[in-house]
Amino acid sequence: MNKLSPAGLRTACVAAAVLCALVLLPGCSKTEPPQFRLNLQGRNPDDFIFASGDNEETRASKEQNKASLDTISTVMYAFFGEPNDPYVLAETGLDARKIQMAAGPTGGDPSKHQRGLYRQHCAHCHGISGDGAGPTSAFLNPYPRDYRQGQFKFKSTERPAKPTTDDLIRVLKDGIAGTAMPSFLLLPDDEVEALVEYVKYLSIRGQVEQSLTITLLDDGNPLDMNPSAIIAEHVAPIVETWNTAESAIIDPPDRPPIDTPELHAESIAKGAELFRGQKAQCMKCHGPTGLGDGGDEQLFDDWNKVKKFADLAKQIAAAEDITDRAERRTQLKQLYDRLEIEKRSWLLPPQQLQPRNLRLGVYRFGRRPADLFRRIYAGVNGTPMPQGGANASNPSGLTSEEIWHLVDYVASLPYDKVSEPGVGRGHLAGIGQWHE
Ligand code: HEC
Ligand code: HEC
Repeated sequence: MNKLSPAGLRTACVAAAVLCALVLLPGCSKTEPPQFRLNLQGRNPDDFIFASGDNEETRASKEQNKASLDTISTVMYAFFGEPNDPYVLAETGLDARKIQMAAGPTGGDPSKHQRGLYRQHCAHCHGISGDGAGPTSAFLNPYPRDYRQGQFKFKSTERPAKPTTDDLIRVLKDGIAGTAMPSFLLLPDDEVEALVEYVKYLSIRGQVEQSLTITLLDDGNPLDMNPSAIIAEHVAPIVETWNTAESAIIDPPDRPPIDTPELHAESIAKGAELFRGQKAQCMKCHGPTGLGDGGDEQLFDDWNKVKKFADLAKQIAAAEDITDRAERRTQLKQLYDRLEIEKRSWLLPPQQLQPRNLRLGVYRFGRRPADLFRRIYAGVNGTPMPQGGANASNPSGLTSEEIWHLVDYVASLPYDKVSEPGVGRGHLAGIGQWHE
């Protein structure tokens, strides 16, 4: 039999690759429709790549991992389609017409219907897959949202709940002040609504993928391939969280009256005391005068705190101090190997989060008293900014009245005299106030 030697095989492959490149290169982007990227965030890429040194056990485990990925891809394709041709599963309750408007390549289809809104306006930041890792993302701080965890920061609902449709519309129309997220106020309403529907589609899709990944890769369980079983276990519970968002809206109760200057000043003073006090502990992060300079603990939001770079950096610093040379070398080698894997496991390096400087008067989700009430009551979901208000899971939290005092204090900060240069800050004391 005419067997191909390994060297011969390699030559044949190289020849084929060169031929393919020559034939495909000029029209490459046209022939290759974009695909959703598998979510392997935080996983060691080596667990999926066969290497020459693999022993039998490693090989078997990699075979298993690859089989799991194939299953996930198959289910994801069947349930959600692909970027140019999304499939809208009836059980998601999503509006297929809106999804069509937002999906696909930019421009109209031959029947002149609008298509491709997401790719035109959002994908360069949020990525084709909604992973927050589009080409522009690496240059931004904060990074664009990765929708696939189903977590959102800026919304009117209870902390763990999804945003309402109106919340997402508001985020698109207003943009997110102080970040790269622009305002899309100039788009017609139907286009904004189509984009919001597509964000939900990507988010549900991302959470379903995560759920399958946990079952197959983390728990190593087989998947019952009956579609209705997959829907009941991996789709319906996620869709339900979107459907119940409206009922989780935080409705700020009536506030104590502040209709005279004295009452207003009194409320601000109470708020200031709470801000620095033990119960609310706002000062711990935002600093005694709200400059965002409290404490020096490194903060990360949920999208970044799972990345273990900071922990490894600390461990490396500690290992540098080991006196025994051989021991130090072994430890450092292990740690640097882990750091290397960590770097290859993420699309974007970790990014630290700053507590907000509250003296700028820039709020990411509105400055109306009700907005600030909700922010202090529920905190910022997915970040260390905690739930402040009392509820079933936080029974010793702030009362509504206390939250209103804090709202008055926070709202007064950008206008407070202490925020003017030199006043009350020591280094420029004596220059006096710039204006009354
Ligand atoms: C120039 C980059 C950029 C573009 C373009 C962009 N975004 Fe964003 N977007 C961001 C950033 C950055 C954030 C995160 C802000 C933060 O975390 O404070 C964000 C956050 C979001 C959020 C999350 C809000 C929350 O409550 O967590 C949604 C939803 C969103 N963008 C939707 C869109 C949609 C839809 C489009 C296109 C119409 C779009 N964005 C275009 C940068 C961008
Ligand atoms: C553990 C640290 C921490 C504590 C404690 C904390 N915050 Fe925050 N706060 C943050 C961080 C971090 C952000 C920015 C979150 C983001 O946008 O991702 C923030 C954001 C804010 C914002 C801006 C919201 C917006 O719409 O942009 C306000 C207002 C605020 N905090 C008020 C308070 C008040 C009042 C308290 C006390 C009840 C408090 N914070 C306690 C960390 C903290």
